[in-house]
Amino acid sequence: RRTYTIAVIPGDGIGIEVMPPALRCLEAAATRFGFTLIFRHFEWASCTYYLKYGKMLPDDWKSLLKTCDAIFFGAVGDPARVPDHVSLWGSLLRFRREFDQFVNIRPCRLMPGVSSPLTGRAPGSIDFFTVRENTEGEYSSIGGKIFEGTGRETVIQNTVFTRTGVDRVVRYAFELARSRPAKKLTSATKSNGISITMPYWDERVAEIAKEYPDVEVEKYHIDILCAHFVQRPHTFDVVVGSNLFGDILSDLGPACTGTIGIAPSANLNPTSKRTDEDWMPSLFEPVHGSAPDIAGKGIANPVGMIWAGQMMLEHFGEKDAAKALLTAIENVLGGAKAKVQQGGEDVLTPDMGGKGSTEVLGRAIESVLSSA
Ligand code: NAD
Ligand code: IPM
Ligand code: MN
Repeated sequence: RRTYTIAVIPGDGIGIEVMPPALRCLEAAATRFGFTLIFRHFEWASCTYYLKYGKMLPDDWKSLLKTCDAIFFGAVGDPARVPDHVSLWGSLLRFRREFDQFVNIRPCRLMPGVSSPLTGRAPGSIDFFTVRENTEGEYSSIGGKIFEGTGRETVIQNTVFTRTGVDRVVRYAFELARSRPAKKLTSATKSNGISITMPYWDERVAEIAKEYPDVEVEKYHIDILCAHFVQRPHTFDVVVGSNLFGDILSDLGPACTGTIGIAPSANLNPTSKRTDEDWMPSLFEPVHGSAPDIAGKGIANPVGMIWAGQMMLEHFGEKDAAKALLTAIENVLGGAKAKVQQGGEDVLTPDMGGKGSTEVLGRAIESVLSSA
């Protein structure tokens, strides 16, 4: 029997709330499609753990995670009690870097039943992927503070683009674009203002483009690209960007599809194999954070987390299960408004304009998946 071991790390805030419904959906998929999931639950990589032990991770975190086929991650952050850079550099960013999860794939799709803040958009008319560089770029630890406390106080943080680092993510994005009907790649740049690193990014994209003559390539500076995301999101297919640009675009895109609460992400190390001695698992998580403003209310949208689970099943090669889970999400969201009109329970969470809860929406998806 096909068996997958998953490290379950809920983290903080709504991470803890969206995890249980996602695990139930994964269980339902496993039961229906005949595979076994073993969940290994970890309470670390959370601010609660940090406040108790003074560190984000136990010393053996790496060997513990290496016993798993993948990492299923909620969200980390409790900015009122732990500075964000401490909690995030001590957990999520560390996983991405130390497991060399160099691609971060973030689908952006206008789902049936979810209204876009942009007018006149039909379900499916917005449907693209952001491919984000995930281990270097603007997120570098090179830099520091000098002349502290003086009038000359200065802080510097260097952006780092390595040829290997840029080439591998750009090539991944081209491969993804090639596999899609539109075969189109958009590169996010800012080579007019950031005059050393971004022209290098453009140069590598242009060089690698030569290997993909069948893929249409375009590039935009990040500022106007943000405007295009809002004004003509239907024209994008695969959008590749540096760590920071990819981060920004992957909140903006989902916001254009109604809510960031549904957006998933896959932090992939596409080259590491389970049989390798130095196995480095990939990590699946929603795009959103711990949302302290709504934490504890039971109203967080669980779809981002559930869809991240769907990407994990896809990654395991459980294609039928992945397809069925995505269909269940679409059917529940798509049928939600009609259900309310017929006097049924509102399953849409407030971020999607409904009065539903995390629990109710999660159960609805789980039951559609189980009953099919
Ligand atoms: P956030 O994504 O947590 O929240 C932004 C806004 O979106 C909030 O108003 C929140 O209520 C809403 N929102 C987010 N997810 C939602 C969901 N599933 N359902 C309904 N509404 C949702 O971003 P933030 O406020 O900038 O960050 C809060 C904390 O989370 C910080 O500590 C930050 O560093 C951290 N963070 C962690 C991750 C991660 O672990 N991957 C990602 C982003 C932010
Ligand atoms: C994300 C988050 C993280 C990032 C933060 C929490 C460090 O915003 O996964 O998009 O910037 O990568
Ligand atoms: Mn982000």
